[in-house]
Amino acid sequence: MSTPHNQAQVGEIAQTVLMPGDPLRAKFLAETYLEDVHQFNAVRNMLGYTGTYKGKKVSIMGSGMGQPSIGIYSHELFSQYGVEAIIRIGSCGALIENVHLRDVIIAQGACTDSNFAHQFELPGTYSAISSYDLLEKAVAHAKEKNVNYHVGNIIASDIFYHFNQGTTQKWASMGCLGVEMESYALFATAARLGKKALTLLTVSDSLVTDEQTTPEEREKTFTAMMEIALEIA
Ligand code: ADE
Repeated sequence: MSTPHNQAQVGEIAQTVLMPGDPLRAKFLAETYLEDVHQFNAVRNMLGYTGTYKGKKVSIMGSGMGQPSIGIYSHELFSQYGVEAIIRIGSCGALIENVHLRDVIIAQGACTDSNFAHQFELPGTYSAISSYDLLEKAVAHAKEKNVNYHVGNIIASDIFYHFNQGTTQKWASMGCLGVEMESYALFATAARLGKKALTLLTVSDSLVTDEQTTPEEREKTFTAMMEIALEIA
């Protein structure tokens, strides 16, 4: 059995899937960190791999950019392939001064400017939160590895290029630490299907200072985040 976006057969995908946005990063990470690697998907080049890490079966698959994209892939993984947990490993822009380039944000919750949750026809505003179980484990590993980390809320926006100045700063005024584009849809999908999700983000740029990391720096700091994700997988 396959889906419109995933050619894997049931059983080819592990119960925990790590999801970077970029499918080529999924390929690189699978080839670098996993043993006995097997590619299970190439539909639309959204590459997915299963292998083992310290003897545990783990999958790594790209999510693409934005809430519709991660919404599709996470829905199929949870509902068709028996996946129990998805850990997004991505990058974000810092929204406040004490969150610095290369720091790691462990997302406790995600706000959004998207209408993703309208489909649930709720009589109010849905607060999308990560799995406390995964969050607690991620914090323990981040402490052990001496990573500069922050735990808190983020904004998952549908917009990368904001035409109006100051939009993201309004989210900062509500305590959001960083901006990315996927976690609200991931957390809401996991909640609706009774599954677990967490997001780990490396700060790649700052909307406060306008600084950006170099691709080399991103590679290095991505490693710390990746190792946390693999340990809790
Ligand atoms: N991902 C990394 N940096 C970002 C930014 N500034 N806005 C949205 N998503 C991002």
